[in-house]
Amino acid sequence: MKNYSNIYKPNQRNLVKCAKILRNDGICALPTETVYGLAGNAYSDKTIDKIYKLKKRPRNNPLIVHFDNLQSILKETEYNFLLSKIYKKFSPGPITYVLKLKKNSKISKKLANKNSTIACRVPANRYFRKIIKLCGSPLAAPSANISNNLSPTSSYDVYDEFKKKIKFILEDRKSKIGLESTVINLVGQPKILRPGKISKDELKKIIKKIVNNKSKEILSPGQLKKHYSPGVPVYLNKKNPENKGALLVFGKSNLKGENIFYLSKKGSLSEAAKNLYSKLRLIKKLGYKNISITKIPNKNIGIAINDRLKRASS
Ligand code: TXA
Ligand code: MG
Repeated sequence: MKNYSNIYKPNQRNLVKCAKILRNDGICALPTETVYGLAGNAYSDKTIDKIYKLKKRPRNNPLIVHFDNLQSILKETEYNFLLSKIYKKFSPGPITYVLKLKKNSKISKKLANKNSTIACRVPANRYFRKIIKLCGSPLAAPSANISNNLSPTSSYDVYDEFKKKIKFILEDRKSKIGLESTVINLVGQPKILRPGKISKDELKKIIKKIVNNKSKEILSPGQLKKHYSPGVPVYLNKKNPENKGALLVFGKSNLKGENIFYLSKKGSLSEAAKNLYSKLRLIKKLGYKNISITKIPNKNIGIAINDRLKRASS
Protein backbone atom coordinates (compact mmCIF):
# COMPACT_ATOMS: atom_id res chain seq x y z
CA MET A 1 0.00 0.00 0.00
CA LYS A 2 1.20 3.48 -0.82
CA ASN A 3 1.30 6.00 1.97
CA TYR A 4 -0.40 9.15 0.74
CA SER A 5 0.24 11.16 3.88
CA ASN A 6 1.11 14.30 1.89
CA ILE A 7 -2.29 14.40 0.13
CA TYR A 8 -4.70 16.71 1.96
CA LYS A 9 -8.47 17.16 1.68
CA PRO A 10 -9.64 20.65 0.71
CA ASN A 11 -11.12 21.82 4.03
CA GLN A 12 -10.60 25.27 5.54
CA ARG A 13 -7.90 24.07 7.92
CA ASN A 14 -5.88 22.51 5.12
CA LEU A 15 -6.28 25.54 2.83
CA VAL A 16 -4.81 27.71 5.61
CA LYS A 17 -1.99 25.19 6.15
CA CYS A 18 -1.25 25.22 2.42
CA ALA A 19 -1.16 29.04 2.25
CA LYS A 20 1.24 29.09 5.18
CA ILE A 21 3.64 26.73 3.41
CA LEU A 22 3.46 28.89 0.27
CA ARG A 23 4.04 32.13 2.19
CA ASN A 24 7.20 30.56 3.60
CA ASP A 25 8.57 29.84 0.11
CA GLY A 26 7.44 26.20 0.10
CA ILE A 27 5.93 24.34 -2.86
CA CYS A 28 2.43 22.81 -2.94
CA ALA A 29 0.59 20.93 -5.69
CA LEU A 30 -2.86 22.39 -6.33
CA PRO A 31 -5.83 21.30 -8.44
CA THR A 32 -7.10 23.36 -11.37
CA GLU A 33 -9.86 22.74 -13.88
CA THR A 34 -7.23 21.97 -16.57
CA VAL A 35 -4.48 19.96 -14.85
CA TYR A 36 -2.82 20.01 -11.41
CA GLY A 37 -0.15 22.68 -10.88
CA LEU A 38 3.07 22.87 -8.88
CA ALA A 39 2.56 26.16 -7.07
CA GLY A 40 4.95 28.59 -5.41
CA ASN A 41 5.16 32.30 -4.52
CA ALA A 42 5.69 34.16 -7.81
CA TYR A 43 7.48 37.03 -6.00
CA SER A 44 10.22 34.78 -4.63
CA ASP A 45 13.35 33.99 -6.67
CA LYS A 46 14.19 31.20 -4.25
CA THR A 47 10.82 29.51 -4.76
CA ILE A 48 11.05 29.76 -8.54
CA ASP A 49 14.46 28.08 -8.41
CA LYS A 50 12.89 25.25 -6.39
CA ILE A 51 10.11 24.73 -8.94
CA TYR A 52 12.55 24.49 -11.86
CA LYS A 53 14.70 22.05 -9.93
CA LEU A 54 11.81 19.81 -8.84
CA LYS A 55 10.39 19.65 -12.35
CA LYS A 56 13.83 19.32 -14.01
CA ARG A 57 12.55 22.07 -16.30
CA PRO A 58 14.89 23.86 -18.72
CA ARG A 59 15.49 27.40 -17.41
CA ASN A 60 14.48 28.97 -20.73
CA ASN A 61 10.91 27.66 -20.42
CA PRO A 62 8.93 30.35 -18.55
CA LEU A 63 6.20 29.61 -15.97
CA ILE A 64 2.53 30.63 -15.83
CA VAL A 65 1.57 32.96 -12.98
CA HIS A 66 -1.84 32.41 -11.38
CA PHE A 67 -3.86 35.35 -10.05
CA ASP A 68 -7.16 35.58 -8.18
CA ASN A 69 -8.69 38.31 -10.38
CA LEU A 70 -8.16 40.79 -13.21
CA GLN A 71 -7.11 43.64 -10.90
CA SER A 72 -4.12 41.71 -9.64
CA ILE A 73 -3.01 40.97 -13.22
CA LEU A 74 -3.28 44.69 -14.08
CA LYS A 75 -1.05 45.52 -11.12
CA GLU A 76 1.87 43.55 -12.58
CA THR A 77 1.49 44.00 -16.35
CA GLU A 78 1.44 46.86 -18.83
CA TYR A 79 -1.91 48.01 -20.18
CA ASN A 80 -3.28 45.86 -22.99
CA PHE A 81 -6.45 46.98 -24.75
CA LEU A 82 -7.63 43.44 -25.53
CA LEU A 83 -7.20 41.95 -22.09
CA SER A 84 -10.34 43.07 -20.25
CA LYS A 85 -12.54 42.21 -23.22
CA ILE A 86 -11.28 38.62 -23.50
CA TYR A 87 -11.06 38.28 -19.74
CA LYS A 88 -14.73 39.12 -19.30
CA LYS A 89 -15.73 36.30 -21.60
CA PHE A 90 -13.32 33.52 -20.63
CA SER A 91 -11.84 34.06 -17.15
CA PRO A 92 -11.74 32.66 -14.57
CA GLY A 93 -11.14 29.67 -16.81
CA PRO A 94 -8.78 27.64 -18.99
CA ILE A 95 -6.99 30.50 -20.74
CA THR A 96 -3.57 32.10 -20.22
CA TYR A 97 -2.59 35.57 -21.43
CA VAL A 98 0.99 36.48 -22.31
CA LEU A 99 1.50 40.15 -21.38
CA LYS A 100 4.32 42.65 -20.92
CA LEU A 101 5.67 42.74 -17.39
CA LYS A 102 5.69 46.19 -15.71
CA LYS A 103 9.19 47.48 -14.99
CA ASN A 104 8.43 47.86 -11.28
CA SER A 105 6.65 44.51 -10.88
CA LYS A 106 7.76 42.34 -7.97
CA ILE A 107 7.22 39.13 -9.96
CA SER A 108 10.43 37.11 -10.11
CA LYS A 109 12.22 37.71 -13.42
CA LYS A 110 13.35 34.11 -13.22
CA LEU A 111 9.96 32.88 -14.41
CA ALA A 112 9.51 35.46 -17.20
CA ASN A 113 10.28 35.07 -20.89
CA LYS A 114 13.49 36.98 -21.60
CA ASN A 115 12.79 39.14 -18.54
CA SER A 116 10.02 40.94 -20.37
CA THR A 117 6.74 38.99 -20.67
CA ILE A 118 4.76 36.81 -18.31
CA ALA A 119 1.93 34.34 -18.83
CA CYS A 120 -1.10 35.11 -16.60
CA ARG A 121 -4.05 32.93 -15.73
CA VAL A 122 -6.98 33.08 -13.32
CA PRO A 123 -8.01 29.47 -12.71
CA ALA A 124 -11.67 28.51 -12.26
CA ASN A 125 -10.89 26.18 -9.34
CA ARG A 126 -12.19 27.93 -6.23
CA TYR A 127 -9.74 26.31 -3.81
CA PHE A 128 -6.84 27.55 -5.92
CA ARG A 129 -8.20 31.11 -5.93
CA LYS A 130 -8.92 30.97 -2.22
CA ILE A 131 -5.31 29.95 -1.57
CA ILE A 132 -4.00 32.83 -3.71
CA LYS A 133 -6.10 35.19 -1.57
CA LEU A 134 -4.84 33.65 1.66
CA CYS A 135 -1.23 33.95 0.42
CA GLY A 136 -1.58 37.56 -0.68
CA SER A 137 0.69 36.98 -3.67
CA PRO A 138 0.28 35.49 -7.14
CA LEU A 139 1.40 31.88 -7.53
CA ALA A 140 3.63 30.50 -10.25
CA ALA A 141 2.32 27.08 -11.23
CA PRO A 142 3.54 24.95 -14.10
CA SER A 143 1.83 21.59 -14.54
CA ALA A 144 2.79 19.29 -11.65
CA ASN A 145 4.84 16.76 -13.60
CA ILE A 146 8.52 16.13 -14.28
CA SER A 147 9.43 17.98 -17.49
CA ASN A 148 8.25 16.21 -20.68
CA ASN A 149 5.97 13.79 -18.80
CA LEU A 150 2.19 13.91 -19.04
CA SER A 151 0.41 16.52 -16.93
CA PRO A 152 -1.40 15.17 -13.84
CA THR A 153 -5.19 15.29 -13.65
CA SER A 154 -5.53 13.95 -10.09
CA SER A 155 -3.72 14.28 -6.78
CA TYR A 156 -2.60 10.64 -7.13
CA ASP A 157 -0.98 11.40 -10.50
CA VAL A 158 0.96 14.19 -8.79
CA TYR A 159 2.01 11.75 -6.07
CA ASP A 160 3.26 9.31 -8.73
CA GLU A 161 5.40 12.08 -10.25
CA PHE A 162 6.99 13.46 -7.08
CA LYS A 163 6.19 11.02 -4.22
CA LYS A 164 7.24 12.71 -0.96
CA LYS A 165 9.39 15.37 -2.63
CA ILE A 166 6.49 17.77 -2.17
CA LYS A 167 5.17 18.28 1.33
CA PHE A 168 1.62 19.17 0.41
CA ILE A 169 -0.70 17.99 -2.38
CA LEU A 170 -4.25 19.34 -2.27
CA GLU A 171 -6.85 16.77 -3.22
CA ASP A 172 -9.84 17.61 -5.37
CA ARG A 173 -11.89 15.80 -8.02
CA LYS A 174 -10.26 14.77 -11.28
CA SER A 175 -9.54 17.87 -13.41
CA LYS A 176 -12.70 18.68 -15.34
CA ILE A 177 -11.05 19.66 -18.63
CA GLY A 178 -7.97 17.45 -18.50
CA LEU A 179 -5.79 19.43 -20.94
CA GLU A 180 -3.62 22.48 -20.24
CA SER A 181 -5.04 25.98 -20.82
CA THR A 182 -5.09 27.78 -24.16
CA VAL A 183 -2.10 30.16 -24.22
CA ILE A 184 -2.61 33.38 -26.19
CA ASN A 185 0.14 35.92 -26.73
CA LEU A 186 -1.32 39.44 -26.53
CA VAL A 187 2.01 41.23 -27.05
CA GLY A 188 1.92 42.44 -30.64
CA GLN A 189 -0.39 40.56 -33.03
CA PRO A 190 -2.53 38.15 -30.98
CA LYS A 191 -1.26 34.62 -31.48
CA ILE A 192 -2.29 31.27 -30.01
CA LEU A 193 0.82 29.63 -28.62
CA ARG A 194 -0.87 26.52 -27.25
CA PRO A 195 -4.34 25.25 -28.24
CA GLY A 196 -6.74 24.32 -25.44
CA LYS A 197 -10.41 24.10 -24.59
CA ILE A 198 -11.01 27.73 -25.60
CA SER A 199 -10.64 27.50 -29.36
CA LYS A 200 -9.36 29.93 -31.94
CA ASP A 201 -12.91 30.20 -33.35
CA GLU A 202 -14.30 31.26 -29.97
CA LEU A 203 -11.51 33.80 -29.52
CA LYS A 204 -12.05 35.15 -33.02
CA LYS A 205 -15.52 36.33 -32.02
CA ILE A 206 -13.79 38.84 -29.78
CA ILE A 207 -10.40 39.39 -31.41
CA LYS A 208 -10.87 39.82 -35.15
CA LYS A 209 -7.39 38.89 -36.20
CA ILE A 210 -5.41 36.06 -34.69
CA VAL A 211 -2.24 35.20 -36.57
CA ASN A 212 -0.99 31.66 -36.89
CA ASN A 213 1.96 30.59 -34.85
CA LYS A 214 4.29 29.74 -37.71
CA SER A 215 7.28 31.92 -36.99
CA LYS A 216 10.59 30.15 -36.47
CA GLU A 217 11.06 31.84 -33.13
CA ILE A 218 9.79 29.62 -30.33
CA LEU A 219 7.59 31.92 -28.28
CA SER A 220 6.44 29.13 -26.01
CA PRO A 221 9.40 26.91 -25.32
CA GLY A 222 6.96 24.45 -23.76
CA GLN A 223 5.69 23.85 -27.25
CA LEU A 224 8.90 22.07 -28.23
CA LYS A 225 8.21 18.87 -30.08
CA LYS A 226 9.13 16.25 -27.52
CA HIS A 227 6.62 16.87 -24.76
CA TYR A 228 3.65 15.25 -23.06
CA SER A 229 5.23 11.82 -23.31
CA PRO A 230 3.70 8.77 -21.59
CA GLY A 231 7.11 7.05 -21.69
CA VAL A 232 6.27 4.40 -24.32
CA PRO A 233 5.87 4.79 -28.12
CA VAL A 234 2.55 6.31 -29.22
CA TYR A 235 1.09 5.65 -32.70
CA LEU A 236 -1.66 7.84 -34.13
CA ASN A 237 -4.63 7.18 -36.44
CA LYS A 238 -4.57 3.40 -35.89
CA LYS A 239 -7.43 0.92 -36.07
CA ASN A 240 -5.74 -1.97 -34.29
CA PRO A 241 -3.20 -2.41 -31.49
CA GLU A 242 0.45 -3.12 -32.38
CA ASN A 243 2.46 -6.02 -31.02
CA LYS A 244 2.36 -6.09 -27.16
CA GLY A 245 0.54 -2.79 -27.23
CA ALA A 246 -2.75 -1.29 -26.16
CA LEU A 247 -5.35 0.48 -28.28
CA LEU A 248 -7.04 3.65 -27.07
CA VAL A 249 -10.34 4.12 -28.86
CA PHE A 250 -12.39 7.26 -29.49
CA GLY A 251 -16.05 6.29 -30.03
CA LYS A 252 -17.30 2.72 -30.40
CA SER A 253 -15.31 -0.36 -31.41
CA ASN A 254 -16.02 -4.03 -32.08
CA LEU A 255 -12.61 -5.05 -30.83
CA LYS A 256 -12.51 -7.03 -27.60
CA GLY A 257 -9.65 -7.72 -25.21
CA GLU A 258 -8.06 -6.38 -22.08
CA ASN A 259 -5.73 -4.21 -24.16
CA ILE A 260 -8.64 -2.16 -25.58
CA PHE A 261 -9.30 1.13 -23.72
CA TYR A 262 -11.76 3.95 -24.37
CA LEU A 263 -11.42 7.73 -24.36
CA SER A 264 -15.15 8.24 -24.83
CA LYS A 265 -17.52 5.49 -25.92
CA LYS A 266 -20.18 8.02 -26.80
CA GLY A 267 -17.78 9.99 -28.99
CA SER A 268 -17.63 13.13 -26.84
CA LEU A 269 -14.47 15.19 -27.41
CA SER A 270 -14.76 16.84 -23.98
CA GLU A 271 -14.96 13.46 -22.29
CA ALA A 272 -11.98 12.27 -24.36
CA ALA A 273 -9.93 15.31 -23.29
CA LYS A 274 -10.79 14.69 -19.65
CA ASN A 275 -9.72 11.04 -19.92
CA LEU A 276 -6.69 11.38 -22.20
CA TYR A 277 -3.82 11.73 -19.73
CA SER A 278 -5.28 9.39 -17.11
CA LYS A 279 -5.82 6.61 -19.67
CA LEU A 280 -2.31 7.03 -21.07
CA ARG A 281 -0.92 6.86 -17.53
CA LEU A 282 -3.00 3.77 -16.74
CA ILE A 283 -1.94 1.93 -19.91
CA LYS A 284 1.73 2.66 -19.19
CA LYS A 285 1.32 1.50 -15.59
CA LEU A 286 -0.22 -1.79 -16.74
CA GLY A 287 3.00 -2.48 -18.61
CA TYR A 288 1.98 -2.25 -22.28
CA LYS A 289 4.97 -1.59 -24.50
CA ASN A 290 3.26 0.87 -26.86
CA ILE A 291 -0.03 2.72 -27.31
CA SER A 292 -2.00 3.01 -30.55
CA ILE A 293 -4.77 5.58 -30.73
CA THR A 294 -7.69 5.78 -33.15
CA LYS A 295 -8.35 8.94 -35.15
CA ILE A 296 -9.65 11.92 -33.18
CA PRO A 297 -11.80 14.50 -35.04
CA ASN A 298 -9.79 17.71 -35.43
CA LYS A 299 -12.41 20.17 -34.21
CA ASN A 300 -13.20 22.01 -30.96
CA ILE A 301 -11.09 20.56 -28.13
CA GLY A 302 -10.09 17.76 -30.55
CA ILE A 303 -7.56 20.25 -31.96
CA ALA A 304 -5.87 20.47 -28.56
CA ILE A 305 -6.03 16.67 -28.10
CA ASN A 306 -4.33 16.16 -31.48
CA ASP A 307 -1.71 18.81 -30.66
CA ARG A 308 -0.72 16.91 -27.49
CA LEU A 309 -0.87 13.50 -29.19
CA LYS A 310 1.37 14.67 -32.02
CA ARG A 311 3.97 15.71 -29.46
CA ALA A 312 3.49 12.49 -27.46
CA SER A 313 4.15 10.46 -30.61
CA SER A 314 7.19 12.40 -31.86
O1 TXA B 1 -3.57 24.79 -17.64
C1 TXA B 1 -2.45 25.24 -17.43
O2 TXA B 1 -2.01 26.21 -18.04
C2 TXA B 1 -1.61 24.58 -16.32
C3 TXA B 1 -2.29 24.82 -14.98
C4 TXA B 1 -1.50 24.30 -13.81
O3 TXA B 1 -2.60 26.18 -14.84
N1 TXA B 1 -0.28 25.07 -16.33
C5 TXA B 1 0.61 24.75 -17.32
O4 TXA B 1 1.88 25.30 -17.14
O5 TXA B 1 0.33 24.06 -18.27
P1 TXA B 1 3.16 24.79 -17.93
O6 TXA B 1 4.30 25.50 -17.30
O7 TXA B 1 3.23 23.33 -17.92
O8 TXA B 1 2.96 25.36 -19.37
C6 TXA B 1 3.11 26.74 -19.59
C7 TXA B 1 3.22 27.03 -21.05
C8 TXA B 1 4.54 26.55 -21.60
O9 TXA B 1 4.32 26.09 -22.92
C9 TXA B 1 5.38 27.83 -21.58
O10 TXA B 1 6.40 27.80 -22.55
C10 TXA B 1 4.33 28.88 -21.89
O11 TXA B 1 3.17 28.44 -21.23
N2 TXA B 1 4.71 30.20 -21.34
C11 TXA B 1 4.85 30.56 -20.05
N3 TXA B 1 5.23 31.85 -19.94
C12 TXA B 1 5.34 32.33 -21.20
C13 TXA B 1 5.72 33.59 -21.75
N4 TXA B 1 6.05 34.61 -21.00
N5 TXA B 1 5.71 33.70 -23.11
C14 TXA B 1 5.35 32.67 -23.88
N6 TXA B 1 5.01 31.45 -23.43
C15 TXA B 1 5.00 31.27 -22.09
MG1 MG C 1 3.55 21.45 -18.54
